[in-house]
Amino acid sequence: MTEKNAKLLVDGKEYDLPIMNGTLGNPVIDVSAVQQAGYWTYDPGFKVTAPVESAITFIDGGKGQLLHRGYPIDQLADNAEYLEVCYALLYGDLPNKAQKDEFYAKVQAHTAVHDQLRKFFEGFRRDAHPMAIMIGVVGALSAFYHNDLDLSDEEHREVTSIRLIAKMPTIAAMCYKYTRGEPFMYPRNSFSYAENFLYMMFATPADPEYKVNPVLVKAMDKIFTLHADHEQNASTSTVRLAGSTGANPYACISAGIGALWGPSHGGANEAVLNMLDEIGTVENVAEFMEKVKRREVKLMGFGHRVYKNFDPRAKVMKETCDEVLDALGIDDPQLELAMELERIALEDPYFVERNLYPNVDFYSGIILKAIGIPTSMFTVMFALARTSGWISHWLEMHSSPFKIGRPRQMYTGETERTFVKLEDR
Ligand code: CMC
Repeated sequence: MTEKNAKLLVDGKEYDLPIMNGTLGNPVIDVSAVQQAGYWTYDPGFKVTAPVESAITFIDGGKGQLLHRGYPIDQLADNAEYLEVCYALLYGDLPNKAQKDEFYAKVQAHTAVHDQLRKFFEGFRRDAHPMAIMIGVVGALSAFYHNDLDLSDEEHREVTSIRLIAKMPTIAAMCYKYTRGEPFMYPRNSFSYAENFLYMMFATPADPEYKVNPVLVKAMDKIFTLHADHEQNASTSTVRLAGSTGANPYACISAGIGALWGPSHGGANEAVLNMLDEIGTVENVAEFMEKVKRREVKLMGFGHRVYKNFDPRAKVMKETCDEVLDALGIDDPQLELAMELERIALEDPYFVERNLYPNVDFYSGIILKAIGIPTSMFTVMFALARTSGWISHWLEMHSSPFKIGRPRQMYTGETERTFVKLEDR
């Protein structure tokens, strides 16, 4: 992969820095020789640092391109089921018919959670945020699957991945049911992945005939696909970093859920709906945009570290939003509000100069609301879907030799002091 070198000239000495090429994207400069020169590299926010090689997902931010295992996201969202995308993320390509049947059966075999796990929910207040519950409960899975987990065993790693993908809808629905004070619904394995999730969310024992609307099943499945993976973002990097210590994978995923919760990352979907609530009506949009430009608030659901043209997920999400509202006959004034915000932002020099475009979170909340999912559950939906991406990266890392993740720092604290006893201070 190394074809040419970059040169580092420091303190009068020249060092060769090999340049490496992946299959797509910017070449990378191997900076290990910087250490020989007695320096560290400095890159706050990891804006230009690639700590891993990965073959799972590729993003070209300039082109607005997102590929999973080489397949464009819009093609996957329109034609593949979420579980097929999970298969591709885990194993490298979309499944053939036999592989698909086998994988779906394996996932179905793991949808239930240990009955003892219910006790963990009872430790939470009913008004706890569902993300807080999810972090705790997913972390608690490590207590159920630790002793017999050998991370050097490929089969153990695979079953862990399948368990996580299978159990996340069950746990997500339990988080919701718990905060509602409703009984948990057992998974129904004759249902598809998205249908089963919606069933566990909205069915109750009082209504055994409950039927999930197929329009919502399709939309939910597409939303899962649009959130499945996004290469080395903050939460995936967190999962990799935690995993690099050899930690229990359920604990690593719990760490990823924690990182996702922030409003700059997955928490933005909840923040968008709160923002639309706060703006209220289209007449207030101009005033709100002035507040954004005065940097008093951020326009949530806008901007991205990598996309500087458009977020291809947002495009599919907007189309899905239109389809769902249309199919359900909903005329949501918040959609009009969101479109007005987008219209102004795409014309206003403040946003244009900074390459700020709607991201995946901008329209997802409006669809989730139409499906009947409450705002506090939005980021839980993201975590459910992103689990396939997180665990695929964890698997990829564990499939070849890796080093513990351990960044350096530029120390700016006090230089050496001499200890003074308390009575003399
Ligand atoms: N509203 C207003 N101004 C913004 C926004 C925004 N949403 N995003 C960035 N800017 C401005 C920012 O103030 C800065 O301006 P200046 O150069 O004058 O200081 C400039 O644009 C560059 O922003 P940055 O903060 O350096 O960009 P970043 O790459 O560090 O941050 C981001 C990316 C996603 C954290 C940020 O755009 C943001 O906070 N957006 C709102 C939250 C959001 O929607 N997050 C979801 C991201 S997509 C889902 C996911 O994968 O997590």
